Amino acid sequence: MKVLVIGSGGREHALVWAAARSRDVQELFCAPGNGGISQMATCLPADVSRPSELADLAERCRADLTLVGPELPLVRGIVDEFARRSLPIVGPTAEAARLEGSKAFAKEFMARHGIPTARFTVCDSVQAAREAIASGRFDFPLVIKADGLAAGKGVLITWDRADAERAVDQIMVEKIFGSAGDRLVIEEYLSGRECTFLLFTDGETLAPMPAARDYKRAFDNDLGPNTGGMGAISAPGLMDEALAQEILDSIAWPTIRAAAREGFPYRGILYLGLMLTREGPRVLEYNARLGDPEAQVVLPRLETDLLEVCQAILEGELARLPLVWRDDAVVCVVVASGGYPGHYQVGFPINGLAKAERLPQVVIFHAGTRRTDDGRFLTSGGRVLGVTARGATVAEARERAYQAVSLILFERMHYRRDIGR
Ligand code: AMP
Ligand code: GLY
Repeated sequence: MKVLVIGSGGREHALVWAAARSRDVQELFCAPGNGGISQMATCLPADVSRPSELADLAERCRADLTLVGPELPLVRGIVDEFARRSLPIVGPTAEAARLEGSKAFAKEFMARHGIPTARFTVCDSVQAAREAIASGRFDFPLVIKADGLAAGKGVLITWDRADAERAVDQIMVEKIFGSAGDRLVIEEYLSGRECTFLLFTDGETLAPMPAARDYKRAFDNDLGPNTGGMGAISAPGLMDEALAQEILDSIAWPTIRAAAREGFPYRGILYLGLMLTREGPRVLEYNARLGDPEAQVVLPRLETDLLEVCQAILEGELARLPLVWRDDAVVCVVVASGGYPGHYQVGFPINGLAKAERLPQVVIFHAGTRRTDDGRFLTSGGRVLGVTARGATVAEARERAYQAVSLILFERMHYRRDIGR
């Protein structure tokens, strides 16, 4: 099978790595890919925001299957475009991907179907938002979210009325998130532990993946600004059986069934971003794809052939394929450019990669690297590497991951020291 992976980060490197282990793989392509990915797949330049260009690429490389990493092509209709051309692809249609592409749509969908989430209101104007803030319906802190895609940055937590009004102005008047801020969701603040629950679905049935935890803040002890994710862990026992069952019964199944009933059966990977509150699990967000860096800790635990899972999704046969997961722990430490998520410089040579990669049970997923003609690697993004290790326990995996990190060096590198602690 010839397989094309869309995207260019650590998540996509993990997808390429998992596909490369498949019995059925013949040739791997990645568009656009990155330096690390180019060691395992042929990288093809591409603009991931253009579904028709990506479909042209899939035709040119005669891909038997396309897997999509990021949300943008999904929300822009890559799956619809591929379907029109009878090109096999795993992912939700643009209509189904609205669960990620529009927070207002997702919240109203959850409200219609009794899926537990924070109390909220949708506002189409500054006036409506100000009224909602003044109404006293919500206590502070109050959460204000841009409706559309904002690269994970569209959520502002506000502490008093002036703060909240400023957030509304920033999103709706100054348009700091562009047209993503044409509408807003205002919602109650939830406290608890956050966790990521991913699942495969063919639209009718679902197969849960093991729970994962993402470390979103830039600095140790969950301090500093939000990032795309500074590390992740997945391990047996991260979530107890009863809670996993509750999430399946009260959130995952109702979502899949309601999407089908509303006429947009959801196929592909569904990401549930959850807050585990004292009152039970609540949905913070849906994503239409694997998480990054969650993919880097979940895919290494998948014993079943990933391409077989994808085939089962395409054929609507997921119910007949029991998934097998390894019961080891996986820890991923993201090594970032100094300054990320703010301003940072790129182009620094990365030293020690080969040595780090030779450590047992260690795999390094590249997120933002470029390979030079003479085979060296340079930094090319905010998140640079996802240094990932397995172990019998989280402690063992963490120990290995940090041992590997200690061998890697580039100018101004930054990473958290408390992933999995
Ligand atoms: P989202 O993009 O909706 O997942 O939001 C990004 C981050 O903002 C989440 O991972 C949470 O840490 C935080 N967040 C979002 N919604 C809420 C909420 N209702 N209460 C508390 N924190 C939230
Ligand atoms: N790690 C969070 C996300 O992928 O959205």
